[in-house]
Amino acid sequence: MTDDTWGAVDAYMGGKLLQSDPALDAALAANRAAGLPGIDVSPLQGKFLHVLARATGARRILEIGTLGGYSTIWLARALPEGGRIVTLEFAPEHADVARKNLQAAGVAEKVDLRVGAALDLLPVLQAENKTFDFVFIDADKENNGPYLEWAIKLARVGATIIVDNVVRKGAIIDPANDRSDVQGTRRFFDCAAGQRRWVASAVQTVGAKGWDGFAIGVVEEATPQGSPSRSE
Ligand code: SAH
Ligand code: DHB
Ligand code: MG
Repeated sequence: MTDDTWGAVDAYMGGKLLQSDPALDAALAANRAAGLPGIDVSPLQGKFLHVLARATGARRILEIGTLGGYSTIWLARALPEGGRIVTLEFAPEHADVARKNLQAAGVAEKVDLRVGAALDLLPVLQAENKTFDFVFIDADKENNGPYLEWAIKLARVGATIIVDNVVRKGAIIDPANDRSDVQGTRRFFDCAAGQRRWVASAVQTVGAKGWDGFAIGVVEEATPQGSPSRSE
């Protein structure tokens, strides 16, 4: 089994499950034309996020890591009337491309795109008393631990938090791999393991984007101090 097979299976399933979509195609084309890295979620993954957001009835979505807004468009389209997505992007040149793509896709009025380092912007959201019922974490993997903690802080009880790229072709268990993103992902799992309010799992994925994985979990109520948690 090779990456070629995984890509071919994605092409087969995409042919069955994805409709032709000029707005999404145009966004990807604009991203590549602007020289953005090709690290958007795959089309089937984008629709997977869309389905999850709809299945959970998300009205207020937070995305960390916009790039050119490809995943943002999928998520914005999942919102009901009056729903809104806040998306955070560090690179102004990525945000500029995203702004145009979101406009062209007709979802700009549902999207609050903020430019800066996520760890600077997240406290601002807290100060604004923003809460979210769906969070997609997909920015610099080095900060995935802190992002998870912020997501839990900003989430309502019952919210879903999903994290991209938690497997990196299995690199996370390779002791010889000391890349900063891989170390960040290990710290993320350590952080997740210590969370008492995030009931989580993770699934490995293969497909057009190779071998990787998502972590996904739901936020539960804080247990009053001194009382046992549900898992005890
Ligand atoms: N979610 C996008 C892909 C995001 S790629 C999609 O699937 O279409 C990751 C993005 O995170 C990049 O655009 C990168 O500039 C951004 N990023 C990196 N470090 C960041 C930080 N500290 N704060 C916010 N965004 C950051
Ligand atoms: C890569 C893939 C991603 O989905 C991402 O968010 C960041 C980097 C990559 O393949 O390098
Ligand atoms: Mg990603």
